[in-house]
Amino acid sequence: MPKLAISGGRPLRGEVRVSGRKNSAVAILPAAMLAGGASTIENIPAIDDVAVYLEILEAVGAQTRIAGGVVTVTPPTDPRLTPPYDLVKRMRASYYMLGVLLGRYGEAEVALPGGCDLGPRPIDLHLKAFRALGAEVTLEHGIVRVRATKLQGASIYFDTVSVGATINTMLAACLADGVTTIENAAKEPHVVDCANFLNACGARIQGAGTDVIKIRGVKELSGTNYAIIPDDIEAATFMIAAAATGGDVVVSNLIPKHLDPVSAKLVEAGCELQENGDHIRVIGRGRPKAVNIKTLPYPGFPTDAQPVMTTLLATAEGTSFVTETIFENRFRAVEELQRMGANIRVEGRTAIIEGVERLTGAPVVARDLRAGTALVVAGLAAEGETEISGIEHVDRGYERMAEKLSGLGAAVRRL
Ligand code: EPZ
Repeated sequence: MPKLAISGGRPLRGEVRVSGRKNSAVAILPAAMLAGGASTIENIPAIDDVAVYLEILEAVGAQTRIAGGVVTVTPPTDPRLTPPYDLVKRMRASYYMLGVLLGRYGEAEVALPGGCDLGPRPIDLHLKAFRALGAEVTLEHGIVRVRATKLQGASIYFDTVSVGATINTMLAACLADGVTTIENAAKEPHVVDCANFLNACGARIQGAGTDVIKIRGVKELSGTNYAIIPDDIEAATFMIAAAATGGDVVVSNLIPKHLDPVSAKLVEAGCELQENGDHIRVIGRGRPKAVNIKTLPYPGFPTDAQPVMTTLLATAEGTSFVTETIFENRFRAVEELQRMGANIRVEGRTAIIEGVERLTGAPVVARDLRAGTALVVAGLAAEGETEISGIEHVDRGYERMAEKLSGLGAAVRRL
């Protein structure tokens, strides 16, 4: 299994370019299945989740090609309606295959998703939406079966804000008869990105990025050419790494607005930030100050950046409180950080962090994508050597992480 060896304590310096957003890619690649013709999608990151998704699309009969971050997807005329379980179980975003196969072909059988183990991650809201659109939905032996002769537009209210359910409903409703309204919709940038892609294909979606999204069903969609947005979670990771190592880093090719909650917290923690067009410069100023974090749906502080922010606060001056409101079990890096000298205790959904002077390098284990990234940043900030196993988790969501960090002066080696 791949490992990463880091010699810590070196301030990161220089410029790093953010890749395309993972969570846009894993929604827009399946969305291309809804079109009658081929779509070309640019700025796709070279990450494992994209590779798996291309295998899933090929497995249901689509033709795909990827070259230099540009993916071409040609949907099938007569698809297979059951993506293979061994691919589906590798990432949660495989549930979007339900929305696209039901929306375009009226039927799908997809195994319940796998993905990071962040606590129970049901898809009851997705299934509620499919039923509201008139689909017959069954769940037996871990397989979700959805079927409909013709989906009918409906009014759907989500009592929990759900990114996946919001996107899956848009995917299914694009070609339905009539108008669908989603209330209490998720507003994350990749929800908007996916709506923009679908509209470029001829869909009629209004209100993405607000609490209410309206989808007017159309007869068919046609292929298009589209470029996905940059990954603001990757951007946040490099910004926080600059702060954690007392460095000076320009993070480029990002959309500053998408980073507002992270930027605000870094300034509160005593960093100097300079925003300019499509890049943000972050200058760390010694030990960060303690700050309190509460993760919330966008535009609140993103849960995906919480583990790496917790790492930064492990060496802050003072006591920080980090409350994770989205997932039940998202402090999985904490035990490993404690092995590196952090003083953190978790009580329910809150981590209480007593900042220490420095972390010390140690062999640690990455257990999921964002916890793994938090350990990479801990290794960069710590005194001495850190060896991180389970790096395959980080490879799922970050393009060329070791290379990008080396470009900023980090002493990082893949083993
Ligand atoms: C998406 O997951 C992202 N994944 C996650 O990123 C991200 O953490 C999450 O949104 C929140 O922003 C992708 O986009 C592929 P949710 P998703 O539905 O759609 C509950 C990463 O590291 N819920 O917004 O699964 C759920 O349990 C990953 O890139 C239901 O109860 O998140 C959670 O508590 C990790 N029923 C809350 O809603 C449902 O049917 C928010 O989940 C669906 C969700």
